[in-house]
Amino acid sequence: MTEPELPTAPKRRVVLAYSGGLDTTVAIPWIGEKLGAEVVALTVDVGQEGELKGASQRALRNGAADALVVDAKHAFATEFLWPALQANALYQGVYPLSTALARPLIARTLVETAVASGADTVAHGCTGKGNDQVRFDVAIHTLGPGLHIVAPVRAWNMNRDDEVAFARQRGLELRTGPASPFSVDENLWGRSVEGGQLEDPASVPPEAAFEWTGHPESWPHEPEEVRITFAQGLPTHLDGRSLDPVALVRELNARAGAHGVGRIDHVEDRVVGIKSRETYECPAALTLIEAHRALERLALPRDLLSFKSEVERRFSDLVYEGLWYSPLREALQAFVTTTQSVVTGEVTVRLHQGRAVVVARDSEYSLLRPELTTYGAASQFPQELAVGFIHLYGLPNQIAYARRQAARSAADGSDGVARAVLPAA
Ligand code: ARG
Repeated sequence: MTEPELPTAPKRRVVLAYSGGLDTTVAIPWIGEKLGAEVVALTVDVGQEGELKGASQRALRNGAADALVVDAKHAFATEFLWPALQANALYQGVYPLSTALARPLIARTLVETAVASGADTVAHGCTGKGNDQVRFDVAIHTLGPGLHIVAPVRAWNMNRDDEVAFARQRGLELRTGPASPFSVDENLWGRSVEGGQLEDPASVPPEAAFEWTGHPESWPHEPEEVRITFAQGLPTHLDGRSLDPVALVRELNARAGAHGVGRIDHVEDRVVGIKSRETYECPAALTLIEAHRALERLALPRDLLSFKSEVERRFSDLVYEGLWYSPLREALQAFVTTTQSVVTGEVTVRLHQGRAVVVARDSEYSLLRPELTTYGAASQFPQELAVGFIHLYGLPNQIAYARRQAARSAADGSDGVARAVLPAA
């Protein structure tokens, strides 16, 4: 009689957000050794360039028990980029939040994968100095409150050289090609480049830091115009051609990027309290935000534009600070959505020598009334009402000024040069 097989406890599983880079590659054996767990390497495709299949095969060769690639490009564009575009989201007025917007989606996919594969732990490759750890951890705590989080690079406190040494010692297979001196993060909305020589805000970024915006010598001498059609605040066509969101963003990245549009050099305030010099290439994001804003200026009334800009700043801060899954972000987004019902029309943007400039815009909801605006004979503007309007409009200041002058004159006994006269009651 043979011995019945003893039930073996299933090995602990950890789902790792795997990019294929050095940090997440060394994380595979680290998790295996420290936690005695098997690693599921999850690559979320948010439109980063590079071969994702190859990366996950490398994860398997480096010891992962399983490797998955989830194509999240469409969800990224429609659920994250489009709301951000409608909110003209720019952190500190300059950074379109490309990296920040992808994190809540990657975190959501991590949690879903952990639940589906029976893992009790998720892992990411963030350091302890950046914003991304905050975004991942907050989103994971929110969406998967029972899950443990491990962040090997943060826990281990290894620098790049240590990681390379560890990888060599374990015989890990790393990405081929020359090792970049920069830390790069890419997706449909942009490319973030930091570290190395870029850390010094006093140094001019080397051309090697840029990939999507070409060398200035390659920027065409002739400008190029692109006509962008919006329906309710969302881009639908380029030059009259209907495109799905992912294709539209990709085409604009290529076309605007070729003209050098989208370079950003920013000294940024991180959530963890430090300033850092960050460089970005975001050709499509900046072009679309310019165009979208131009259309809003035509179709939204002044008070709404003004109030919306406050909402936009707050929305941008929330996204930057890792609070995508918050009631406040949802509420602000609902406000923004409401404003977009009339943001329909066409905008022409001229791409040239690093700049994307709006040169024409048109909307069926335009609030600009030619018969009121024209200086020509056709004007219907009720000019005769202007005098009375201006009188009442300036009245509060007139009263306040006169009061102060009168008080000053009384105090220094002078008559006042131009004697203040209170308006007759
Ligand atoms: N500073 C940017 C942000 O916090 C970019 C971070 C880029 N991450 C990276 N691994 N290079 O959104």
